[in-house]
Amino acid sequence: MDEAVIFACSHRRDGNTDHAARLMAEGVNVAGGHAEIIYLRNHKVLPCLACGYCCEAVDRRGRERCVLGAKDEAFELFAKLFSARTVLFASPIYFYHLPSLFKTWIDRSQQFWTARQTGEPWVADLPRRTAHAVLAAGRPEGARLFEGAALTLKYFLHNFNMTLAEPLLLRGIDDRTDLADRSELEERIVELGKTAWASA
Ligand SMILES: Cc1cc2nc3c(=O)[nH]c(=O)nc-3n(C[C@H](O)[C@H](O)[C@H](O)COP(=O)(O)O)c2cc1C
Repeated sequence: MDEAVIFACSHRRDGNTDHAARLMAEGVNVAGGHAEIIYLRNHKVLPCLACGYCCEAVDRRGRERCVLGAKDEAFELFAKLFSARTVLFASPIYFYHLPSLFKTWIDRSQQFWTARQTGEPWVADLPRRTAHAVLAAGRPEGARLFEGAALTLKYFLHNFNMTLAEPLLLRGIDDRTDLADRSELEERIVELGKTAWASA
């Protein structure tokens, strides 16, 4: 548990949330930590088949708990959630929610939900940790713009014994360089990275 893992969750390369991920990493570094950035779009993740195998295979753990475990990189990504000191997410909002690739990966964590339900120690006894998120949306308004994404993240992270701190919500950030033009927001994101490391 000696590093922060930052998931950059956009389908767009070098956009606002990639930039946010790098700013969070800068904050972690300033606070004396080390951060790894994972760009989700660079990883192969297949959709959950809802086959029910993970509910039945209670004697299996890790990659072997899922019929897709050997076929893609979902488990390598989950392994980071098992070992990280703290986890941070930088994600855009797509249609009032998380981008489809990110949601696809989240659905695959059903295997851990199942394992927690039955109190399997390899999941149920993970250390308690706090996770952090920056969510960016193009619209400047919309009271419920981030609700779906925040709720999904909260329950996804619960699988790994993590609590989601209040996410930093960025509104009116749309064109690829919008965040880079807002130095006050950039500073807040660096601060978030610092706090995440220092309070972990
Ligand atoms: C498929 C798609 C759906 C989107 N849906 C929304 C939306 O529902 N509400 C919103 O405010 N912005 C929406 N946006 C805009 C993005 O949230 C915004 O451009 C964001 O800054 C993109 O982050 P990125 O540069 O890291 O990719 C959408 C963008 C795309 C590509």
